[in-house]
Amino acid sequence: MRKLKQMALSLALACGGVHAADETLVRQGEYLAVAADCTACHTAEHGQPFAGGKAIASPVGEIIATNITPSKKGGIGGYSEAQFSAALRQGIRADGARLYPAMPYTAYATLTDADVHALYVYFMSGVKPVDSMPAETHLPFPLNLRFSMMFWNALFLNAPGYTPDATHSAGWNRGRYLVDGAAHCSTCHTPRGFLMQEKQDEAFTGAQVGPWFAPNITANRVSGIGEWSQQDLIAYLKTGRLAGKAQAAGSMAEAITHSFQHLSEADLAAIAEYMGSIGDSHAPASGASRFNQGNASSNVGALRGVPFTTPVSDEGARLFSGNCASCHGSSGEGTRDVFYPSLFHNSATAENNPSNLIATILTGVQRHTAEGDVYMPPFGAQPNALNHLDDGQIATLSNWILQRYGNAETAVTPEQVAEIRRGGPASPLVWLAQAGVGAGALAAIVLLIWLTIRRQRRRNSI
Ligand code: HEC
Ligand code: HEC
Ligand code: HEC
Repeated sequence: MRKLKQMALSLALACGGVHAADETLVRQGEYLAVAADCTACHTAEHGQPFAGGKAIASPVGEIIATNITPSKKGGIGGYSEAQFSAALRQGIRADGARLYPAMPYTAYATLTDADVHALYVYFMSGVKPVDSMPAETHLPFPLNLRFSMMFWNALFLNAPGYTPDATHSAGWNRGRYLVDGAAHCSTCHTPRGFLMQEKQDEAFTGAQVGPWFAPNITANRVSGIGEWSQQDLIAYLKTGRLAGKAQAAGSMAEAITHSFQHLSEADLAAIAEYMGSIGDSHAPASGASRFNQGNASSNVGALRGVPFTTPVSDEGARLFSGNCASCHGSSGEGTRDVFYPSLFHNSATAENNPSNLIATILTGVQRHTAEGDVYMPPFGAQPNALNHLDDGQIATLSNWILQRYGNAETAVTPEQVAEIRRGGPASPLVWLAQAGVGAGALAAIVLLIWLTIRRQRRRNSI
């Protein structure tokens, strides 16, 4: 009897042990899903987690993220682990169709087999199935031909997995694994070429992502964030702000809210260690960093006592004092507790590319971290809204701010504001596709084949 009891106990323990191992794997998969920010694209606003339906703006048109819950009807419930791995790391759907690179499989290709396994276990047993089916993606011809992605993948997709570099520390390797893979920093920060591929020789030197500009984050002191300590970068990735230097809005604010702030201290330190080793061969040898530009200044005082509705010669000053000074200070100095940032020594006003200044005015700032909520109201609302500014007013205001507080060499036109309002510049690929559908398709295919040959040659010659 005692023996039987003991047996029952050890059986229960064994079962409990298996369960605990599964649980650990599910938690590991969940952590990776957060690090990889799967939710950013696969969860629609106010939608069910991972049920898809969110339209991802791309320079060639909107691509709709699919349902990746384990529902057999609407989601990926029918995916085997091998099929899941192929979707994640090679951009191949279970039915064999190619995915568009709006799904960052070129980055996820870096994920190891073990991490793909953990992600699979999490998505199959840790996520609630949802049966809804999101709308389908319709891109203009010839970009709607999914098989053309085969050529693209032949050119730009690396083999799955990560090979550690033994000449560097374990921390550096972990950082590189995360930056290149799950955290996919380069998908936003690396400029893209004509075929939307990431330009490897300009890695992390800054790129337009829709209405926002993801700045140069190489360790170069002039062009990048070389002035930041590793602790600075960790603080920025955790909270979305670094006083007197930068605040995260737009897609970076989203990545911090959903993903980066949840990374472990060790993983953030690893990312900072790796980023600290990235150079910028195209950077100017000397010059001022964007974090040191501008000074407090004001001619708002001259407007004191002038009714808000009276036209004044300095329209920029009027717009600033009426809309911005209440939070950012009449000299653009922000508040002492730095909750409202200064507009000088600020990367948004000192960049050569004014997108972030324009996009911030249009859409404001929303960010949620363990530190609390950050909110700046949008000024690009509908014309009859209280705080609506039109394209001309935003251009005038931006130029006034750039002249006083930021990069005085940069100028903003109303057309630029209109473009950012529409979601950012379009790719020449769209123009090519629309210009003469037949000619465009032919040119694209010839170019792809030519590039395939060229890349193959280069590979062979190594
Ligand atoms: C930047 C946006 C983005 C992120 C981040 C992202 N995805 Fe996707 N994913 C997409 C889009 C868009 C599609 C559909 C692409 C298409 O239709 O060609 C897609 C498709 C897929 C598919 C194919 C499903 C099917 O049958 O259609 C799978 C599986 C998938 N994603 C899993 C993931 C996982 C797991 C993660 C996190 C590790 C992730 N995705 C992160 C945008 C994203
Ligand atoms: C989804 C796109 C996206 C991803 C992914 C992304 N970033 Fe960003 N990042 C941006 C944008 C856009 C900005 C500009 C935000 C602003 O100024 O409001 C930015 C800003 C930054 C800044 C501040 C630079 C400055 O001058 O203000 C740093 C540092 C940074 N990112 C590092 C990273 C790192 C490290 C990763 C990966 C762990 C990463 N980013 C991933 C889009 C992205
Ligand atoms: C109600 C207060 C408030 C008002 C009014 C306001 N802001 Fe802001 N602003 C903020 C907050 C809060 C932030 C974000 C701080 C942070 O990220 O930690 C911010 C951030 C910014 C940034 C940096 C964004 C980035 O991406 O780096 C700029 C530039 C900016 N504001 C410009 C303006 C301009 C121009 C106006 C007037 C049209 C304005 N703000 C009006 C509160 C305000």
